Amino acid sequence: MRRTIGKTMAVCAALMATTSMAQAEDVEVLHWWTSGGEAAALQVLKKDLADQNIGWVDMPVAGGGGEAAMTTLRARVTAGDAPTAVQMLGFDILDWADQKALANLDDVAKQEGWDAVVPKALQKFSKHGGHWVSAPVNVHSTNWVWANKAILDELGIKQPANWDEFVAAMQAVKKSGRTALAHGGQAWQDATMFDGVVLSVGGVDFYRKAFVDLDPATLGSEKMNEAFERMATLRSFVDDNFSGRDWNLASAMVINGDAAFQIMGDWAKGEFLKAEKVPGKDFLCFRVPGSEGTVSFNSDQFAMFSVSKDSAKAAQGAMAKAIMSPTFQSAFNVVKGSVPARTDVPNDAFDACGKQGMADLAAASKSGTLVGSIAHGHANRAAVKNAIYDVVTAHFNGEYDSKAAVEELVNAVEAAQ
Ligand code: BGC
Repeated sequence: MRRTIGKTMAVCAALMATTSMAQAEDVEVLHWWTSGGEAAALQVLKKDLADQNIGWVDMPVAGGGGEAAMTTLRARVTAGDAPTAVQMLGFDILDWADQKALANLDDVAKQEGWDAVVPKALQKFSKHGGHWVSAPVNVHSTNWVWANKAILDELGIKQPANWDEFVAAMQAVKKSGRTALAHGGQAWQDATMFDGVVLSVGGVDFYRKAFVDLDPATLGSEKMNEAFERMATLRSFVDDNFSGRDWNLASAMVINGDAAFQIMGDWAKGEFLKAEKVPGKDFLCFRVPGSEGTVSFNSDQFAMFSVSKDSAKAAQGAMAKAIMSPTFQSAFNVVKGSVPARTDVPNDAFDACGKQGMADLAAASKSGTLVGSIAHGHANRAAVKNAIYDVVTAHFNGEYDSKAAVEELVNAVEAAQ
């Protein structure tokens, strides 16, 4: 009898210990990583945290660019129930920090020496008033093209070296009866293509003057008209069912040989890898022709919301530390398609596209040709970003011609500020 009671108490104590440990160390994570490739990368993060006894409560909200996730987040915060950690982009982080909603990560940042290894372009968004408020998990870039190599080989198409060659390549694919450009007609995807197109038309100075400085003359310029004309050209190469299609289904069209090209951020590579496709053999990655030497980037960061319990704070610190470890940054980004958010991670584990992504980022950062993605919240606050989305999408869907789009862009950006 005594032995049974003793045993029962021991079991209870063990259970309580596990429960309280799980409660103490759980993080609820709101994110929009719901495609196959994204889920595979998320698994790397979940496992890393599980190995350290940090419990994971999943809060996925599908939708690239994170618009839907941000809407859910606002509702949760309004209800007084903010998740502990939230995937967030660029200016959204600064907005929440302005509202004093984010936790201070200075202790872990100092212990781990983040100041010395996180590129300044990311620190601009990870720090607020000199304090660390989020942990960057990666650097993506948007001015990429993903191509099905077998289709190009069959049609004798070389990797296009400039915009005209790209258009000629798409014409040849269209003529062969296939879809030239796989695309999903959603505002954020249209805007993602626009990032690369703007760079290809006018380079970084034009991009910055128009979309970072929001200079009305540049927004309303002849060059901007040319950018919209290029968007109209791209529109002529998508299939009839593009409207509303998710980005990963567009990637699948290229993976399966139903389409030749997709213009998308390097999270698309995660889909190719998940389908066991090999860069250089099955698919090609190259910069949007005309945008070589420039990089439009976005970085997924985990912003931690202010919590009062010490145990919750400890879990946030542990998660931030885990995310920033060099081995995790390598393991995660190899699967995600992105590149590390620290400058000291070796490129050995990365494939050819990843190695190119790392080299491009370092070079662009050095030469001043690194710009924040318009589409992914790294050029402007959400109001301006959304105003740009509206015009780009309306134009892509034929509501405006390029001249009208340029006028609308100037007005919409002015009204949104
Ligand atoms: C995020 C990526 C994500 C993509 C599509 C982007 O905004 O930065 O991590 O894979 O959206 O969901």
